[in-house]
Formats: sequence, C-alpha cells, structure tokens
Amino acid sequence: MTAAPRRADGNPVRVGELSLDQRISLLSGGSFWGTRSIPEHGVPSVTLTDGPHGVRHQRQGEDNLGIFDSEPATCFPPAVAVGSSWNRDVARRMGQAIAEEAKALGVGVVLGPGVNIKRTPLNGRNFEYFSEDPYLTGVLAAEQAAAQESAGVGASVKHFALNNQETERMRISADVDERTMREIYLPAFERVVTTAKPATIMCSYNAINGIPAAENTWLLTDLLRREWGYEGVVVSDWGAVQDRVTSLRAGLDLEMPGGRDSSPELAAAVADGRLEQSVIDASASRVLELSAYHGATGSPVDHDRQHALSRTLALECPVLLKNDGSTLPLRAGQRIAVIGELAENPRYQGGGSSRIVPTHLDIPVERIRHGATDLGMTVEYAAGYSLEASHDAATLANDAVETARRADVAVVFAGLRESDESEGFDRTTLTLPDDQIALIRSVAAAAPRTAVVLFNGGIVSLEEWHDDVDAILEAWLLGQGGGAAIADLLLGVVSPSGRLAETIPLRLEDTPSYLTHPGEQGHTRYGEGVMVGYRYYTAVDHPVRYPFGHGLSYSRFTASDITVERSADDDTALTVEVLITNAGGRAASHVVQLYVSTAAGPVRRPRRELKGFVKIALTAGETRRVRLPLERRSFAYWDSTHDSWVVAPGEYRIEIAENADRVIQSTTITLVGDALPTRLTIDSTVQEWIEHPIYGQMLFPTQEGAEPSDLTMIASMPLRQFLNFPGVPLSPRDIDHILAADPVSG
Ligand code: GLC
Repeated sequence: MTAAPRRADGNPVRVGELSLDQRISLLSGGSFWGTRSIPEHGVPSVTLTDGPHGVRHQRQGEDNLGIFDSEPATCFPPAVAVGSSWNRDVARRMGQAIAEEAKALGVGVVLGPGVNIKRTPLNGRNFEYFSEDPYLTGVLAAEQAAAQESAGVGASVKHFALNNQETERMRISADVDERTMREIYLPAFERVVTTAKPATIMCSYNAINGIPAAENTWLLTDLLRREWGYEGVVVSDWGAVQDRVTSLRAGLDLEMPGGRDSSPELAAAVADGRLEQSVIDASASRVLELSAYHGATGSPVDHDRQHALSRTLALECPVLLKNDGSTLPLRAGQRIAVIGELAENPRYQGGGSSRIVPTHLDIPVERIRHGATDLGMTVEYAAGYSLEASHDAATLANDAVETARRADVAVVFAGLRESDESEGFDRTTLTLPDDQIALIRSVAAAAPRTAVVLFNGGIVSLEEWHDDVDAILEAWLLGQGGGAAIADLLLGVVSPSGRLAETIPLRLEDTPSYLTHPGEQGHTRYGEGVMVGYRYYTAVDHPVRYPFGHGLSYSRFTASDITVERSADDDTALTVEVLITNAGGRAASHVVQLYVSTAAGPVRRPRRELKGFVKIALTAGETRRVRLPLERRSFAYWDSTHDSWVVAPGEYRIEIAENADRVIQSTTITLVGDALPTRLTIDSTVQEWIEHPIYGQMLFPTQEGAEPSDLTMIASMPLRQFLNFPGVPLSPRDIDHILAADPVSG
C-alpha cells in the first residue's frame, strides 16, 4: 500500500482542503473500474477490478461488463475449490500471488473474496463461494483478504449481505430473522472485516427484509461501523445503487461504476438540507484514504512461477468421494482409458465477472499422458460426448465404450458445462447432462474398473450413476493448473486431501431451502433458519450421499487421546488437544475437524457446528499432537430477546470428527454460561412469570394437589390476557407496580 496522496509540503491531503464539489465528486466512480481523481490536489484514481481468483483487468476502454477482453492473468482455483482444500495456506498464498499480479497491472483493489453462504446448491454462482458453513468460509476468506492487504493491495469482501441466489438478485428481498443472519450469513463478513480489515466491502444488489442492502442503515452503519468498527470504504456492487442520497445516508460511500454521476443529486440534497455535509465529509474522507492503494508498482510477474503455484494450490482441493477396491491411484503398467471431452477441454472457472483470461492452461489428458509414461502405463483417449450439441453423439459414445473395453481402468471426465451454471442465473437441477450420465453408465458396464472425475462449480447429484462406478474424484473448478493437479492425484504422486465444504444430498428435494428457493413475488423467505446444509441434515437425521467434511485419502488416519485444557479465569477459553496418526502406508494430508454440540439455551441448536479445523501433512506412521483453540463465540448463540451473543449454561460436547456425520473422539464439558436477567413484561407468559425466582411463588404459589395439567392450560398465555379472566386476584396496575420496582424489568 503506498502512502495516501500528499500535499507539496509532504502532508497528506485532508478532506477539509477539498471544496464541497470535490468531496462529492469522490463518492461516484470516475470510470467503469476507477475512482475519481482530483489532479489539482494530487488525488489519483484508484483501480478496482475483479477477483476473486485472479486479476481481471481491462487495459484500454471498457465494455459493458468487461467480461471477455481482460489482460492475461493467472487463473487460480475458484473459491469452491479453495473451500474444499480446508487449508489456510492455500487461501493465504493465493491472496499474496493475486496481489503481486494486481500491483504489476496497477490495480489497487481486487474485488474479492466472495463469502456468501451456500444456502441452496442451485445458486449459479456457488463456484465463487467457499462453503455452506460460515466458520470455514470466514477463516479461509480472512486469510486471502489479509494476504492481499499485507501485500499492499486492497480486498473487497462481498456481497454484503444475503446474496445467496442469482435469481432476481437485483430486486429480490431475502427475508431472514436476525438470529439466522448473525449465526449463518454474517459471521464470515464479520471475521474478514474485524481480522483482515479490508480496504473495501461490497454491498449486494438484493434487499434484506424489504430494504435494499445499498440503502440499509442497520447493515451499513449500525452493524458494520458501530458494532464491528469497520473503517474502510463501502462500495456498491456495480449498478446496485438506486437512490444515491438514501444510500449515502445509509452508509454507502462509493457508487460504482462511474458513468451515472450522482454529484448533482448529492449537491442539491446538501443545499436543501436533505443531506448533512458531515455525511459527505465522512464518506469522502474514507474514499480519499483509498487513494493510498494507488500506484503500488510491483516487479514484472513471473507467470511460469505463478502457474506452478496454481498447480500446487489446486492439488489441495479435489475430494476423493469414493474409492472402492482402491481403484485409485492408477498403477504402473495399467492400460488407462481417459474418456470425456472435459479431459481435453476442461472447465476450470465459472462464468461472469470473475472470468480470467489464463496465462497457461493444463490439459488433463495431456498431463496424464505426461505422467503415465514414466509409470509404463498406456493411455487412450476418447471424447465420449461433445460439450456443444453434436450430431455424432452415438459415434462418440460407442467409440468411448470400445476404448473402455480395452482398458484396465476407465477414467471418465464429466461435469457441468458453461451453460449449466454462472453468475447471473441459478440452476434448476442437480443432475449432470443426460449424455454424460448415459456415457458413465455404459463405460462402467464395459471397463473392469471405472473412476469418474467431476468438473463443476456447484455440487451435482451422483445418484443416477454412483453405484455403477468404483471411484469418484470431485475436482470442482481448479483454475489453470488443475489439469496437472488432477493427473498427479490420479497417478498417486500426491494423495487427495480435500474435504467437502458443502453437503452432497441424495435429492434436491431433501435440501432445506427446497421449498423456499428461489422465492416468490419478490421475497425469498429463509424459513429453514440456522438449519443450513449439514446443520439441517444432522438435526433431522436425514441421510445424504456424502456429508459436509467427507473426503477419502490414499492413506488412513486415526485420532486418539482427546483432552481439553481449560483457562482458569474464563471457562469458554479452552484448547482441545488430540493425537493424529497416519496409519496408512504413505505420506498424506489430513483435515482435523472440531465441532461443538449442545442443546443448551432457549433456542433450537444445530446438532453440531464446525468451530475449528487444521490440515496437517504426515508421513507414513507419523503421529502428531494437534491443538485447536475454542473461545466464547464457539459456544454462543444469538439471543434475539437480548440482542446479544449468549453462552447458555449447560453441557457442551467437544467433538473431533471425520465429517459432520462421523465423530471419532469426543469429550463433554459444562459451562456456567451467562446469567441472563429475566426481563419480564406484562406480555411475558404465565410460565415465564412462574419461573421467575421471586415473582413465581409470589404470584403463583404452588397449589397443594394442583394438577400439572392445570398450569399447562395457561402456561403459554401472556399475563396481560390471563389477568382478564374472572377470579384472578391481580390487576394490570399491580403488575405495573411490581415491574416499576424491579431493577431489571423496570
Ligand atoms: C458484478 C458482481 C460483482 C463484481 C462486479 C464488478 O455484478 O456481482 O461480484 O465484482 O459486478 O464486475
């Protein structure tokens, strides 16, 4: 990050030195990708551009969305892959590498990471997000954003907030209760904002409970600034601003893109008193600070080195879902049939604003051939299907089946096409294209063994062919180096170590958002509440094809000796220790997953929630002691009646698990928790009054011989209504007197 613009005398330019018109001019973009400059004060234009998994920079001119003619840059693994890596180093190293390329291109802010939670597997943009879990999302995104910021390039955590679908994204209202927002949809933003301190945060297109995010004072000021202490710039998603005066007053500092200059509107609003100048000054001051990201020049990029890094990072991401009979890795001397056009024409990123023009592109079948030579393998390739509509489909399929028949192992590359998923629209099905399903099944009927490699940004259903094949490697979209990474994993150079960051359900109908996505008449109601993804399936014991956290290895790991080290002065600050052993015959990496499980508190809690993880590489036979911290928020729920995070008194089970369904080590602790003042009102229920330590007996002395059922009838009745019943010896005035004297409720 270079220094903020400075005056001739070397002092930084202050907003007070600018005229009102100059301050207002800073609040709208000066071009499609740049902030407005003020040359007479040495204020430069700062370039903001996409992200998140590479630098999509346009040099000359700008098309409407700038999607197809950007400068070549390294296309790193999109977030769906990074999320499946469960590896902080992958996110950090990617942030560093992206910053290096941004500086070389004169880009000050890279628009990413995207942290929206995968509420529905149908979201066309899920390839650009990390997980269905907010903790995994937040930890990885914060690593990437912090790495960018440390290298002097701004990040822009997005899309703030509740942009969990593409359908009608610019006008749909996400209708969500606050506990669900706090526990599921906001924590990743909170972690990035409070730990990585990104230069900007991008507000989303959609509305939240009827109020556009771009005009949402609770979101952009009360929560973001006053509660989280954010001091950076709130930038609109491109074209998200509807009413500029309202959005500025709500806390939206910078309207992008440039073009529709809102300066006259803002100047008029100040002139006629609808907008305080202090609001202008505060936002202009923050945008002025953004200038510090201008002009960080980096050394020329070594694109070969960056490409090698993209391969290394991609290796961490694929998830080995199934591997019957140790079909994988492929073995020396085998005859391999590589089938599927995706092996020759791979998908490696998603469609829309994140599309990068890659500097290189590894072709899977070429990399497999390259690696197989040294292993004495023979490799035959057959396209099997055409990604574009093709009139010789039958020939392609028949040739592929014959190729498979001649092999020891057939490896079918399948997945979603460009037209199946993208920013801008949602999917309507989870299944693979019909021609690919048919091909998988016919190849599996012909070959002695069959493995399937999947290239897809959103999860796909496996049901139509899962039992026909021996192995499945979910490779997601891996960036430009993915072809080489897949070859190394198939050939056993490296063991797969990815874990699912999103549940693979048996049916779309089983997903918790099935009945409410994509919404109707302008509203999507998040009726499942906090029960998103594995939180839902484990809460209702619903079977899934593969659970959150699942992933196989070419080796085998065991866990033992879980212990919990507790702090003397805070019973929620503790460290979980466990021994992990690589009990298999080869080096491999393993993800230690730490969950907290409790039923404590007045709200329904998920069966378990991810609250810690670490990925470790162990040699064959090696044992390592792993330590994972837990803190107050690891145990807390959001209490909507007290508007705060609360640790409920009670038992908490600390679990080391292989995935959300399989706990392998656990121990239970008891937490004193928070003593919540019982704030009674005349509308509290009879039960709540009865449970009060003082007023319970006073108002409702235990009646000898009274049947519990007597109370059940009235327990949930608000006291106000109960007082209306004849024979109740209390009046509302009595209650008012009691409450007025009460230190908590009064
Ligand atoms: C797009 C995307 C956003 C992107 C921006 C600029 O509509 O929603 O993620 O950064 O516009 O391309």
